Amino acid sequence: MPDYALVLSPLARAAYFAQANEVAQAEVAACVPEAEIRGAERFGGLEVLRLTAPEESLPKLARMSSAQGLFDVTQTGWQPLDSDPGFALHPDFVWGEKYRGKTNETLTQMLINLGLAVCTVEAPARLLDPMCGRGTTLMWALRYGMSATGVERDAQAPAEWRRGLKKWTKLHRQKHKLSEGWVQKANRQGVGRFLDFACAGQVARMVTGDSADLPKLLGRKPFDLIVSDLPYGVQHMGGADSRSPLATMEAAARGWVACLSPGGAIVIAFNANIPKRAELLAAFEGLGLEEVPVPVAHRMSESILRDVLVLHKPA
Ligand SMILES: C[S@@+](CC[C@H](N)C(=O)[O-])C[C@H]1O[C@@H](n2cnc3c(N)ncnc32)[C@H](O)[C@@H]1O
Repeated sequence: MPDYALVLSPLARAAYFAQANEVAQAEVAACVPEAEIRGAERFGGLEVLRLTAPEESLPKLARMSSAQGLFDVTQTGWQPLDSDPGFALHPDFVWGEKYRGKTNETLTQMLINLGLAVCTVEAPARLLDPMCGRGTTLMWALRYGMSATGVERDAQAPAEWRRGLKKWTKLHRQKHKLSEGWVQKANRQGVGRFLDFACAGQVARMVTGDSADLPKLLGRKPFDLIVSDLPYGVQHMGGADSRSPLATMEAAARGWVACLSPGGAIVIAFNANIPKRAELLAAFEGLGLEEVPVPVAHRMSESILRDVLVLHKPA
């Protein structure tokens, strides 16, 4: 098998901190299982991950969240490879907006990669983020060529999302269509109001509402991937109520699973200090999912140890 060096992006260091190397290796192991990882080393000023893999794996390797580029390692030296990951839309659609509570963009990409690796639906094409904030996951899904639906209880989120979309579509002369409506009877609280962004052959929809009401808000349409970043404690709950992320998940888990196609995957990023991993897993107990362990936990700060729970719904 050819010998490659995957250049670790400085963005991965900013996302995964001291565990950047371990996280990069765990992501490759989960998403490109045919690769043989040899370990991390330095090349010039670059941090690289050395591995062997069949040539057909190159497109998947180029999409790893930690990858900045790839080298072909040969007898005569290291040749840079054309490793364009081939994403739709300008990166500004994901990275452009900065706001309090935004999920790290690199982490969000890894969550989608892990979901795609575990999902056994043929050609997964529909992603749902049931706590979507201002849409980082939705925009990543469009870049991956998937349609996306987000539910967010902060009724201000769609207007903020729209503001960003207007800016980036104008700057990058991106053809698109914005439209809005209601998935249920109009009401003063805005529950059930949606904003659609049609672009690059896909649609991303943001619906105002509570994650615990998914089947009511989204009907019977199933999703192949559910990817979300839970609030990191009470201060990030984004609303008046002070339920912990665990209480929210206990109320919402059944509805999430009901929205998932057989073969689909759920990927959740969370602060492992609240809730503990076992508690979060227990919220899904009895719902017919299988846990897929992926060792990508990393310390973000003294109070936040970010971990990822990956679940598969057998077909
Ligand atoms: C960590 S943030 C997600 C940020 C998002 N990934 C982004 O980058 O914009 C968690 C989000 O969950 C939302 N949230 C919390 N509880 C919710 C619930 N019960 N239903 C819907 N959204 C909820 C919060 O308002 C917050 O926007």
